[in-house]
Amino acid sequence: MTARISVIGTGYLGATHAAGMAELGFEVIGVDTDAAKIRSLSAGTVPFYEPGLPELLSKHVAAGALRFSTSIEEAAEFADVHFVCVGTPQTPGGAADLSYLHAVIDALVPRLTRNCLIVGKSTVPVGTAEALATRIEALTPAGVTVELAWNPEFLREGHAVFDTLHPNRLVFGVTTPGAEWELRQVYATPIAEGAPVVVTNLPTAELVKVSANAFLATKISFINAMAELCSITGADVTLLADALGHDDRIGRKFLGAGLGYGGGCLPKDVKALIARAEELGAGESVEFLHGIEGVNQRRRDTVVTETLAALDRKDDRAYGRVAVLGAAFKPLSDDVRESPALEVAKRLHDAGALVTVYDPEASVPARSVAPQLRYAASVEAALRKADVVLHLTEWQEFRELDPVWVGELTAGRVIIDARNVLDPEPWLAAGWNFKTLGRLVEPAAAAVPSRDRVESA
Ligand code: UGA
Repeated sequence: MTARISVIGTGYLGATHAAGMAELGFEVIGVDTDAAKIRSLSAGTVPFYEPGLPELLSKHVAAGALRFSTSIEEAAEFADVHFVCVGTPQTPGGAADLSYLHAVIDALVPRLTRNCLIVGKSTVPVGTAEALATRIEALTPAGVTVELAWNPEFLREGHAVFDTLHPNRLVFGVTTPGAEWELRQVYATPIAEGAPVVVTNLPTAELVKVSANAFLATKISFINAMAELCSITGADVTLLADALGHDDRIGRKFLGAGLGYGGGCLPKDVKALIARAEELGAGESVEFLHGIEGVNQRRRDTVVTETLAALDRKDDRAYGRVAVLGAAFKPLSDDVRESPALEVAKRLHDAGALVTVYDPEASVPARSVAPQLRYAASVEAALRKADVVLHLTEWQEFRELDPVWVGELTAGRVIIDARNVLDPEPWLAAGWNFKTLGRLVEPAAAAVPSRDRVESA
């Protein structure tokens, strides 16, 4: 049985995968060129917020099943299976930058002294793995057999540990039965628990990953486009989504209309898919994705426009105060990459509003990318004297706010629930002007008997 695993690249994906592999019973070495990150992980500390990961990591570091190193040579000597988890960031043109991936292959392969399987987990443009296989072949030392497989990762930030240990599917892009066998050994536990396995070739495996994220982005933009129509017509996007979701061909998940998608994955992968399709002369096949991006951007524009309209005060102040609740791209994360919340906050600041941001976990990363904004240490401090309150990232803490208490702190009583998840009734009852993005909250709607409402699926 495969016993020894290396995970090369210990960012978000790699650190979680390394801890997950240790939990599945393997001896694991995690390798990264960033010495500070390696020191932190070796001490059992995770340099980002992910519920459950610090506990899992420290458990296996303490037990000796998991260690971290900056030496790729150590990984080359140690492991039978090498998972490559390095980042593939976006270049200015939208395409993926493969330089970290190439650097790993160039450093690892010439140092290999035993037969092994290299497994790509990074998100890459279709066609990358076949090109890497050629590169690997040219670099492989005599007498050693090295195979390449592609095994994309579908974990969600905030649920990374669960998704790693209980994947909803496993995709193995392989070129030989031996590689498939090896991957089945690695994932024997989730397979035994019922995780479906799709065995395919390298390009299909690469494409599954980006197309899954493009599909999720499409679903979100679809419901957001409907939310635009709801706003104009007096229809309710939340009940519309419930009704659509009861059709199990559609499903209710990812029909949460609001401020749109952000993060390090969906926006980047949509752009990378467009860029790759254009390179392949197939730009037309994904032309619709430009529309998906357009809808997503308009959500942010709408919140900025509506906030500025609400700030249009007829007193002697040049600008109003805005309390921004949320900076992370989604709750249970401190990730502010492509965060819709932070973009809205920055644009309001640029327009001359006095913006104070509060996020339970993401203030430090937010400050490092948007130092021009004010950050409050508590929700109370952010709300004090605000003319308009923006609910931009749906942390549980914000859902539990008492509108009467909030109204005692703020100067104005306008709230925009840009995630469409707060219960409007107590806000309306406390005298708030409660604005949404396509959700109907007129007092008349609040009077609709509850049997006419539809439970979320
Ligand atoms: C996404 C995918 O969901 C994962 O399967 C994938 O592995 C990951 O990208 C990746 O490529 O590494 P993640 O970026 O963690 O995961 O975030 P999601 O939970 O997908 O949310 C993305 C964005 O969509 C967030 O900004 C969220 O607020 C927004 N969203 C989500 C909505 O606006 N509405 C919804 O109904 C759902």
